[in-house]
Amino acid sequence: MDSAYVTLIAGGDAYAPGVEALGRSLYATGSAVPRVLLATPDVPERTLDHLADDGWRVRRVEPLANPAPPAELLFARFANTYTKLRAFGLEDVGKAVFLDADTLVLRNIDELFDRPDFAAASDFFVPDRFNSGVMVFAPSKARFAALEASLRAAKTYDGGDQGFLNSVLPEWWSLDATHRLPSMFNVHHFVFQFMSAHASLRRQFLADVRVVHYTLQKPWLAPTFTGASGLWWETYAALHPERDGAWHHRLHAAEDWTFDHVVRAISGD
Ligand code: GLC
Ligand code: MN
Repeated sequence: MDSAYVTLIAGGDAYAPGVEALGRSLYATGSAVPRVLLATPDVPERTLDHLADDGWRVRRVEPLANPAPPAELLFARFANTYTKLRAFGLEDVGKAVFLDADTLVLRNIDELFDRPDFAAASDFFVPDRFNSGVMVFAPSKARFAALEASLRAAKTYDGGDQGFLNSVLPEWWSLDATHRLPSMFNVHHFVFQFMSAHASLRRQFLADVRVVHYTLQKPWLAPTFTGASGLWWETYAALHPERDGAWHHRLHAAEDWTFDHVVRAISGD
C-alpha cells in the first residue's frame, strides 16, 4: 500500500465505538485510501470481524509495554498507548496517517499524505510539542527498531506515547513549516465547542475544521456535554440507531449550558 490511514484498538474493545465512528467519518469524506486497524490479541474476534465488515483491514499486533511506572501515567489508560508505536513498523505501508480512535474526520484529509515524514499538529496544552493523535510518517522496520531501542532511555512527560515521541523528536517544533500541521487537522473537542458556539467565529471555523479529537473525555464512555460530542453521536447513531436517544439530540442542540437547562434537556421536561 502506498498510503494508509492507521488506527489502534488495544486492551479489550472499549474503543470499538471510536473506531466505528472514525471509519464512518473517513468513508464519508470520499477517501479511497485503505484503512488499517492495529489490534492487540485481547480484542475479541467478533469485534474485529464487525470492524472488518466496516472496511478496516485488521492487523493483530503484540502490545508494547509502557516502561513508565504506573504512578507516572497521567491516566491509567496510557498503559496501552505505547502499542501505537507499532504503526511506525508497518513494512507494507509507504506513508501512514495515524489517527487516534478518538478522532473524527469532518472533511477529506488525503492531502496529509503529501506531507513529509514526520508531520503532526501542536498539542493543545503544550503547543511547542506535537499531539500524537494525528501523525504523518513513513513506516519501516528500521523506524520501529529505532523507537524500540529508545524505549527505556527516552523520557515521557505524560507517561504515554506522546511524551515519548516528543523526546525522540525534540526538534519537531523547529523543523520547516511543512512538518507542522495546521491546527485544524487536530482540534480538541473543547475548542470545537467554544469556536462553534460563538456566532462570530462559527462560520469560518466550521468551514476550516478537519479533524476533531476527543481527548480526555470519550463520548461513548461517558456522556460529554460539548458541542463536538453531538457530532460524534450523529456519526455513531447512523451506524447504531438503537443507541440513539432523544436526550442526545436535546442535549446536543442546547445552546444554554446553565445547570437547569442541562437538567431539562436530559429529562425532557
Ligand atoms: C494524549 C494524546 C494521545 C496520546 C496520549 C498519551 O492524550 O492526545 O494521542 O496517546 O496523550 O501520550
Ligand atoms: Mn486521543
